[in-house]
Amino acid sequence: MFFAGSETTSTSIEWAMAELLLNPEAMAKAKAELTRSIGPNRRLEETDIDNLPYLNAVVKETLRLHPPVPLLVPREAKNDTNFMGYSIPKNTKVLINAWAIGRDPDAWDDPLCFKPERFLASKLDYKGQDFEYIPFGAGRRICVGLALAHRLLHVTLGSLIHEFEWKLGGQVTPETLDMKERLGITSRKLEPLLAVPTKRN
Ligand code: HEM
Repeated sequence: MFFAGSETTSTSIEWAMAELLLNPEAMAKAKAELTRSIGPNRRLEETDIDNLPYLNAVVKETLRLHPPVPLLVPREAKNDTNFMGYSIPKNTKVLINAWAIGRDPDAWDDPLCFKPERFLASKLDYKGQDFEYIPFGAGRRICVGLALAHRLLHVTLGSLIHEFEWKLGGQVTPETLDMKERLGITSRKLEPLLAVPTKRN
């Protein structure tokens, strides 16, 4: 539980911050929503999550482009199966590429672009019912930590955005920010993000 719950969450927050620093307009919209909804004198709490649709869209869009468990958990066919014209013999190990599904041009407009807005007018969710979007998997083996991860991602990311002003560290600019991935236990940034906070005005 510790293992499945820690690196997945920290990786997602790192990717979200990297995408927001690369897309200042999205960062500004998320910040404005937090200021409007929470105000300057209060900290973000779990009960605020449902009133932050743009932050929710940022989390969803991050998990679409950067699912931390890109191949989910392996499955095995119990019986000989015919699925969409493919024949899958009994005992075949099946890997599901959630990373590729989230970038499939047949399912997504402009699939490689970070556009949280695509989720604002959409009912798509990561609860395993929408098969074009399964960062937490689906079915019996769906992530058991989904409800906790949902809260952790929103409260942590939202607090970082709400409490601080952020800029890229070192000599890095949005043009030179390295967004390459490294596949280990989770799919992480190859170059760790260096981001510098200052207290919000
Ligand atoms: C961003 C956060 C997270 C993501 C994207 C994520 C994603 C996933 C995925 C894709 C699976 C495999 C599901 C499948 O194959 O259908 C999984 C399984 C699992 N997750 Fe998560 N997870 C996250 C956070 C957490 C947290 C916070 C916990 C618990 C504290 C957790 C506990 C587990 C466990 C125990 C499994 C194995 C379930 C099984 O095999 O039956 N996860 N997770």
